[in-house]
Amino acid sequence: MNKDFTYYKELTDKLESTGDLTDAEFEELLTMDDPAACEYLAERARYVREKVYGKAVYLRGLIEFTNYCKNNCYYCGIRCGNKNVERYRLSEEQIISACDMGYELGFRTFVLQGGEDMFFTDEVMVRLIKTIKGKHPDCAVTLSIGERDKESYRKMREAGADRYLLRHETADKEHYEFIHPKELSFEHRMQCLRDLKDLGYQVGCGMMIGSPGQKIEHLIKDLRFLQEFQPEMVGVGPFIPHHDTPFRDEKAGSVDITLKILSIVRLILPEVLLPATTALGTADAKGREKGILAGANVVMPNLSPTDVREKYLLYDNKICTGDEAAECIRCMSLRVSKVGYEVVQSRGDHINTIPSC
Ligand code: 5AD
Ligand code: FES
Repeated sequence: MNKDFTYYKELTDKLESTGDLTDAEFEELLTMDDPAACEYLAERARYVREKVYGKAVYLRGLIEFTNYCKNNCYYCGIRCGNKNVERYRLSEEQIISACDMGYELGFRTFVLQGGEDMFFTDEVMVRLIKTIKGKHPDCAVTLSIGERDKESYRKMREAGADRYLLRHETADKEHYEFIHPKELSFEHRMQCLRDLKDLGYQVGCGMMIGSPGQKIEHLIKDLRFLQEFQPEMVGVGPFIPHHDTPFRDEKAGSVDITLKILSIVRLILPEVLLPATTALGTADAKGREKGILAGANVVMPNLSPTDVREKYLLYDNKICTGDEAAECIRCMSLRVSKVGYEVVQSRGDHINTIPSC
């Protein structure tokens, strides 16, 4: 068959109407670079996302509260083996005041993200979560602090945490082992995701695009995993090398493939919360705008104090490290409105989980 625009359009239409394609068809979409077909894919993703969420783009306030990490992932700039990182840990007071400031600015979701830092025991996390939820009961608390055991997840959930982000990074075991040291296991990562779901968290998984060793077949496995796991959120961004990691000389992931994946994810999971990530904004000056136009509906301005921003570098040239939260929000709102969307400050729950009133 001659693979022209009409062929890719039919694949896109099939994906939109059934949420599924064969592996070979997914591969066709992921490897094509017909500009009109890419635009059609993005257009259908926008249509589906607008049907569910209208023009709203949800804001999440990100607080990067510790860059200590016991892990040594080959791709990540804050890996424990990187001795050139100046480590920091926000105090409980600093974390609470970042939330208070975010609340004043209108945020209703706080994402507490950090490396796997044993200082933040269950007891400390529970206290933090209870304080934030006590002061701001109308807000959602999202955690992104890596792998812990189920009991720990349970305690934090009982303390009031609503959501948890834990990217699976790749759904292929061998590829997982290629980008992680042997202390980390694919099975354990997947178990954590299942535990989180069991405990009633709204769960976000996700993957880097173009990480070293990644093949198209791995991306297809990622899509199959999303179909099966049915996460409420999916974080997708291009891999970007960091100069102090074993992957320093590897190529960055493709922005165009990232955008296609965003659109495909939107068509597979119409209600999913899909951020236009900082990595996408770093890889391309207009990356976040392109992400929104490809079907994303979340942006996450940084609420961390400015003096620690430069120290939370997972990859090189990360954007927004010098900007005050208020400036970041202003800039982000402007960018979002320029492409025809509108930032909103509600909790922006996953559409299936909005409590009936
Ligand atoms: N490039 C892009 N994304 C990265 N992450 C970590 N290191 C990098 C990198 N070098 C992503 C991982 C992690 C999330 C917090 O950031 O997917 O789960
Ligand atoms: Fe952070 Fe533009 S979004 S400064």
